[in-house]
Amino acid sequence: MFKISILLFCVLGVLCLTQEEADEPGEDDTKDDLSVLECPPFLLKNATPLSPCICHEGLDDDAIFIECNGLLAPKQLKQITMKLGRRRIDALEIKESNLPHLIRQLLGGNAIETIFMRNNSINSVDPTAFAGSENLAQRIDLSANNIQDFKFEMFNQFSELTVLNLGENKLTKITSAGQIQNLHVLYLYMNKIETIEPGAFNLLEGLEYLDLRWNDLKQLPLGALTVPSPRWQLRIRNNELPTLEGAFQGGVVPFLVEASYNSITQLKEEVYRPVLEGAMTEGAQLYLEGNLLQCDCDVAWLVTNITLRRFVDNAVCSGSMSNIQDLMPEEFETCQGFEPTTESV
Ligand SMILES: *[C@@H]1O[C@H](CO)[C@@H](O)[C@H](O)[C@H]1NC(C)=O
Ligand SMILES: *[C@@H]1O[C@H](CO)[C@@H](O)[C@H](O)[C@H]1NC(C)=O
Repeated sequence: MFKISILLFCVLGVLCLTQEEADEPGEDDTKDDLSVLECPPFLLKNATPLSPCICHEGLDDDAIFIECNGLLAPKQLKQITMKLGRRRIDALEIKESNLPHLIRQLLGGNAIETIFMRNNSINSVDPTAFAGSENLAQRIDLSANNIQDFKFEMFNQFSELTVLNLGENKLTKITSAGQIQNLHVLYLYMNKIETIEPGAFNLLEGLEYLDLRWNDLKQLPLGALTVPSPRWQLRIRNNELPTLEGAFQGGVVPFLVEASYNSITQLKEEVYRPVLEGAMTEGAQLYLEGNLLQCDCDVAWLVTNITLRRFVDNAVCSGSMSNIQDLMPEEFETCQGFEPTTESV
């Protein structure tokens, strides 16, 4: 009930904003002072009872955290961020707001370290929306919105950005994930991604974790998952991929691949041996649950290598439904090119 009455007040035009402005004539004093780590007085709790944004101090030593609830439009947020006077903010969290377009300079040029904007009906993001945070933003969460098209290049100058979450949006195609120098974690889970262009990730030199779970991938062109970083993992479960063949071409093979619930039927040695060798080195696994594998002579290379096959999780054969780990290597000895190994005794 309380929340509803706040919303109603703000619906009556910019009333709540103009009131704040009147309260706070000296706002320009902090212009460009990125060392100030104090809440602006106009956003302190109880300063303006109707403000959708409230600033909290002292969570950490010098930390300031701004929380906004129920913003009615992007312009309303921009009016507030402009008033902050280009300040350094540790975290900004926006909830239950209507921000269909993240407009130009939305964050008012302030430098913000962590930006949470989950579930605010965002459709589009202007490339300058986050300007001002280039040297500070470490984590940006835009998950659970309606973004269909995203220009990753907008973050190319964001030297500290390590985690970008675009999960639970409506992306259908990844042409290029930009050149975000320090990006370690990229979440793209639960979108509608059908297409990834060759080399889409090949400028993300720091990438360690790529999450493409729950998308609509039916095929991957050569080099679609070429990643230059020396050590990375791929989460790609719940797509409809028949194979990962050629996907890593020219890049580094991930040491952990979670490919459960795809449409993989064949485990070709040249595709999956490098993955398993990486898993073995790192103590990771290749996850294959929910794929129906053909356990014919094509998997002899795996079945007969007891050491290697331990690094496959839940690889189940169609028909017999037996786990590859339980197959008898002896039964594959007649496959061409396979000699009985002492290991199998
Ligand atoms: C998303 O936000 C709406 C209101 O803006 C709310 O009703 C809904 O519960 C939120 N969903 C999640 C998953 O947080
Ligand atoms: C099993 O595979 C590993 C990794 O490729 C290899 O080093 C080892 O020699 C193989 N063992 C046999 C018995 O083929």
